[in-house]
Amino acid sequence: MRRYVIAGNWKMNFTPSQATAFINEIKPMVAGKDNCDIIFCAPYVTIDAAMKAAEGSNIKIGAENVHFAEKGAYTGEVSAEMLKEIGVEYVIIGHSERRQYFGETDETVNLRTKAALAAGMKVILCLGEVKEQRLAGITREIVSMQTKLDLAGVSAEDMKNVIIAYEPVWAIGTGLTATPEQADETCGQIREALAEIYGAEVAEATIIQYGGSMNEKNAAELLAKTNVDGGLIGGASLVAAKFTAIVDAAQ
Ligand code: 13P
Repeated sequence: MRRYVIAGNWKMNFTPSQATAFINEIKPMVAGKDNCDIIFCAPYVTIDAAMKAAEGSNIKIGAENVHFAEKGAYTGEVSAEMLKEIGVEYVIIGHSERRQYFGETDETVNLRTKAALAAGMKVILCLGEVKEQRLAGITREIVSMQTKLDLAGVSAEDMKNVIIAYEPVWAIGTGLTATPEQADETCGQIREALAEIYGAEVAEATIIQYGGSMNEKNAAELLAKTNVDGGLIGGASLVAAKFTAIVDAAQ
């Protein structure tokens, strides 16, 4: 039995004071809604303020990326050790915006994933096809390949600390959502790829979220699908009432 994980990806939104205000607003709204894990992934400089505001609540704060090296000459990057020291448990890796705008590849996504896992963190690994790939009918091949490349060298044991977020790139920030059937089918294809690598037991235990214009209106239908174990939410994670409605859909 997989547990729902409802995670917000704030992207480049919320200063520390804005995050504090947001967490203070949403904290009482999601209190006691314990049928899912609730996480917000925040910009690095906002993490600390968000964590302080979330203290004692059922909200966890994560990061939006992490570098693969332990330390060194990587201007602008942040290491797993740095995140661990301030108490960060979850980190998003491989978001399509990182791949599209910042040159990340399956290779760097894999390196970052392994570094985060080695540091004892939990990874939300994002993958998904672009529109042309869906139209060409190669979505299964794409998500299967990404799953295998991004997880190369990750042990079955470490898969306990990996959540996969299936995010069709054409659905991110566009208002277009995968239909519940498309989301279920593709999350199922990712699960099949996991079964090829790790066997059925790990594949069945792995949490696979859907992300891409998930909102308070479509969440219940998406989350009702067998292979959809949660959501990674962008825009709607910035509005307390919308995000709370998605948490409610997971109860
Ligand atoms: P939207 O919910 O804004 O489409 O963003 C999805 C996403 O990219 C989450 O990581």
